[in-house]
Amino acid sequence: MEASIFRFRYATNLLFEEDFSYAINPGYRPGYPVPQLEETDQHLLISTEQLRCVVNKSNLKITMLDRDYHILCEDEKGFHWEVHPQFGTDIVQTSKKVQEEEAFFGLGDKAADQNLKSQRFTNWGTDTYGFGKKSDPLYKNINFYYGYHHEKAYGIFMDNSFRSFFDFGSERADVCSFWADGGEMNYYFIGGPALMDVALRYALLTGTPEMPPLWALGYQQCKWSYYPEANVREITSKLREYKIPCDAIYLDIDYMDGFRCFTWDKEKFPDPKKMIADFADDGFKTMVIIDPGIKIDFDYSVFTEALEKGYFCRRSDGAYAQGKVWPEDCLFPDFTRADVREWWSTLFEGLIKDQGVAGVWNDMNEPALFEVESKTMHLDVRHDYDNHPCSHRKGHNVYGMQMARATLAGVKSFAGDKRPLVITRSGYSGFQRFSSTWTGDNVATWEHLEIAHLQCQRLAISGVSFSGSDVGGFTEQPSGELYARWVALAAFHPFFRTHSSGDHGDQEPWSFGEEYMDYARVFINLRYRLLPYFYTCFFQHHRFGLPMLRPMLFNEGVSNQKFVDRSDECMLGDHLLFCPVLKEGAQSRSVLLPEGDWFDYWTNKKYSGGKSYKISAPLDRIPLFVKAGAAIPHFPLMQYVGETRVEELKLQVYYAQGEHQSKLYADANDGYAYQKQQFRWSEFLLKANDDRSSFEQSLTGDFEPEYAQIRIEFIGFPQQPDTVEVDGHVLEAHSMEGQNIFFVNVNSAFKKILLLHRF
Ligand code: GLC
Repeated sequence: MEASIFRFRYATNLLFEEDFSYAINPGYRPGYPVPQLEETDQHLLISTEQLRCVVNKSNLKITMLDRDYHILCEDEKGFHWEVHPQFGTDIVQTSKKVQEEEAFFGLGDKAADQNLKSQRFTNWGTDTYGFGKKSDPLYKNINFYYGYHHEKAYGIFMDNSFRSFFDFGSERADVCSFWADGGEMNYYFIGGPALMDVALRYALLTGTPEMPPLWALGYQQCKWSYYPEANVREITSKLREYKIPCDAIYLDIDYMDGFRCFTWDKEKFPDPKKMIADFADDGFKTMVIIDPGIKIDFDYSVFTEALEKGYFCRRSDGAYAQGKVWPEDCLFPDFTRADVREWWSTLFEGLIKDQGVAGVWNDMNEPALFEVESKTMHLDVRHDYDNHPCSHRKGHNVYGMQMARATLAGVKSFAGDKRPLVITRSGYSGFQRFSSTWTGDNVATWEHLEIAHLQCQRLAISGVSFSGSDVGGFTEQPSGELYARWVALAAFHPFFRTHSSGDHGDQEPWSFGEEYMDYARVFINLRYRLLPYFYTCFFQHHRFGLPMLRPMLFNEGVSNQKFVDRSDECMLGDHLLFCPVLKEGAQSRSVLLPEGDWFDYWTNKKYSGGKSYKISAPLDRIPLFVKAGAAIPHFPLMQYVGETRVEELKLQVYYAQGEHQSKLYADANDGYAYQKQQFRWSEFLLKANDDRSSFEQSLTGDFEPEYAQIRIEFIGFPQQPDTVEVDGHVLEAHSMEGQNIFFVNVNSAFKKILLLHRF
């Protein structure tokens, strides 16, 4: 328990298990404040500075209130259980009353509309090729949701890795319940009052990732599969030739020898080390896929070693848990064992240290099995669960996360001072500490464009900011228009990768003709210019738990009921609002702007919020707005991170009366020095008045960015100043012809800029 988080544990007959969790961040230190206790005949009242919990002594029903006695959430039946008819374990369940006009959000990668009300969901990681809006379960298992009513929010995280269920008033309109097929009822109640407060506390509980290398926020190109080597070289050359910025090229399963993990097909890739080095010289990082299934092959050392050491999962009666995946019959390492993870991490030496691979893509780790109805292992398969032995019923939902954990450890141990990139398909709550993710095998349809946006936002508020979709769709062939619109959307999602199944036409930015390539390039270029902004958002995520993508209701000052069911408009970080175009043939779309002033990023036109506007959106535009008062950093255009020295950063400062803060994070873009103060954290403060405005910077950290200069562009200010004073020196402000913009070039460590007007 801490002031804003209460934990509830229930076990039948008082038979509690040892307290153990894969979800909770090992660094999480609850505050354990001394609560105030009051007792009457009927009730026990437990109060902290933030929350009140009323326990009914006769039936143990709970009511959670805020300090002002507003009900946030109250038990309907509360905790109850029934015996599982098949397994004999307890199905542990909690039911709550649905409050008036309550909306529900969260739950990871669900493809459903933003508000989950009236629906039921299951968390049981599943390979869902070509899924749709109604498909459930999907790949991920994130047992965390938000309740929101009367402009107040709370969160509930049920930390239980058995197959679990969430019903938001679907079975009975006035009841919200969640349950799991076994284990304890173990949940955290997280107070708000704002949705963002809940998001931050959930991130505190389950952790955030380390900083990725900056290149991992660049554009990435993938397909199932690029091979042989000549084909991959053709793709990387074309990316450069057509000036499509790109930082990573992916090798899918066909690089392996007969789909044996940690091997190379020497015919297709005779000299991987040389190829990868050439790519590196050309600014490409090479990413490779690694699946969990290890081919049963007595001439394959990964298999024989794991067999000898007893690392593979077994059935309850001792037989190996066999299953078919790409290499046909396979066995599967038990990643819930510390020694197996340790062994797995050693396997990356060849790929990372010897051949120079930069990062690893973990797939099929639900785990996915072919030719069985359940699509996964038999439920009696045993797992160690880090010394808490259990069956697959409990181990299934954490399997993918533990694989990603072992992979991350492996990549890190051989990558020296380079930061790794790991991407995983499956994961349980907290997996964001180990890996980025993508939304799995989507389809090249307009509906899936919308789904991608719903999923990435939902993942972000469920602790997982570093996510993206297969741009253009994995299965089926997108039109040029759909592809261009997808690039335009995904350019604002943290993980940005084109991927496709390869069983239809090509899916590279140039595959749809020059016109569509030009549209795609506009957004990929924009992404590269905005890299310092993305990096700052990532730092805010890493350090403070702030989601990078924020559905409108999660933003300060937005409590407007109109946004409860609206999910197109979305904030990236503190200051950019983007809104995808989701309809074929559309040339414009309506955008609902929240209160306050906003600038159209493309035209610098100012809009007053609180209403909807029809915004022109030809194929080279996406409605994109900057919150007035913001400072948005830009890099010069580059074809990949590190292509050239960044001599000058551009900061666009958008006028708003009053005081407004913006942030900028910079470090060496890779390496671990940032963990030892080698970063620069700038907090900017714009103070704007009619006759006198100032723009200040306060700096933390010991790092000096490579750009010594910042060009500051002041946009939309009522007039150009007569004098600009930078740290006591008078400088000339230049105006940009025909635009209401003036700029000054200043030292990047400036402290204060004064803009003075004579009357
Ligand atoms: C799975 C993955 C997909 C990958 C394919 C082949 O379907 O989701 O991304 O390309 O397997 O490895």
